[in-house]
Amino acid sequence: MEITSGADARSGADLLNEVQLSQWYLPALAVAHRLNLLRAVADGNVTADDAAHHAGTDPQATAVLLQLLVALGVCGREGGVYHLVDAFRPYLAGDGEADWGSMFKLAWDQRCTVLLDSVRLGGPKAFGARGLWGGVREVEWLRNTFSAAMHARSLPLARRLAEADYWEDAGHLLDIGGGSGVFSRELLRRRPHWTATLLELPEMAARAGEDLHRAGLAERVTLLGGDMFELAWPAANAVLFSDVLHNWDDTACGRLLRLAAEAVAEEGVVLVHDMLLDEPLNEPTRSANAVSMVAVTGGRQRTLKEITALLGAADLVVTESCPTSHYFTAIVARKRRSTSP
Ligand SMILES: C[S@@+](CC[C@H](N)C(=O)[O-])C[C@H]1O[C@@H](n2cnc3c(N)ncnc32)[C@H](O)[C@@H]1O
Repeated sequence: MEITSGADARSGADLLNEVQLSQWYLPALAVAHRLNLLRAVADGNVTADDAAHHAGTDPQATAVLLQLLVALGVCGREGGVYHLVDAFRPYLAGDGEADWGSMFKLAWDQRCTVLLDSVRLGGPKAFGARGLWGGVREVEWLRNTFSAAMHARSLPLARRLAEADYWEDAGHLLDIGGGSGVFSRELLRRRPHWTATLLELPEMAARAGEDLHRAGLAERVTLLGGDMFELAWPAANAVLFSDVLHNWDDTACGRLLRLAAEAVAEEGVVLVHDMLLDEPLNEPTRSANAVSMVAVTGGRQRTLKEITALLGAADLVVTESCPTSHYFTAIVARKRRSTSP
């Protein structure tokens, strides 16, 4: 069956992303209510830091949670100051007989507990002490399910990216945190003179290797299993971070982008492919993805401006940004050219 994707019209995959990420809407409301953040916001004129101070929560996670409530239309924000939208006041301000606190208690589930702990304590709590990546390494069921889920979501995006015109005729792709290998596979299928290195956690790299072997690409892809923060990166004409940077804080992203800048050829490209936060922040799906990062990886979604700044700090200059779907964008960066003669 043909898979369609495009920036112009929402595809089936875009709608599925919306449904999948809407899993955070109710936990966000229930947690904000449980932590009395909504009461603090209802009292008016509070910043995210004030609300976090009032509730004893992690300031950054609190800001991300409030941002989703703004995108859902429950809260408003002007100049960094939040208020509860009047229509919700009888139900969410934490008092009165129409208050929804009991409804949230009835709906409370594991996801709510995980988000509550992540917002209260800071740091992702969804996969316990070993975290998502420890789980992916140690638990076969989780690894296989995570890899297949990412593969399904990434396939239309990988096809779209492989079709783009910033690839040279021949070259070597360095696919960082390449998951199932779907981006390497689609690029190499379409571009017979390209080769790739897939850098992944060892167990994930082995799994991707099986798929690449089935696709007849084993000879053209080198598997590099290990920690991307520790391994030596090979030279490449293109370095791809698809759905990777949003899993990490700014310091970690800075390290990864400096490694990319060292690995990429003078005329090469560094591609950051991610779901961007919009400006102004009004699409709940994007803001829900940011909430999911709070609970699941400890990373953060970013705006184009924020990713451009991270790239700039690694001496990489954004030359274009191209949507691969309604939600995902490829940001293309190149090495800054020296202006001296
Ligand atoms: C959200 S997935 C993205 C997978 C793929 N790039 C895609 O877009 O379909 C992030 C990937 O980063 C990998 N990863 C996490 N920590 C890593 C590390 N320290 N070194 C190498 N890969 C890592 C994970 O195993 C996971 O496959």
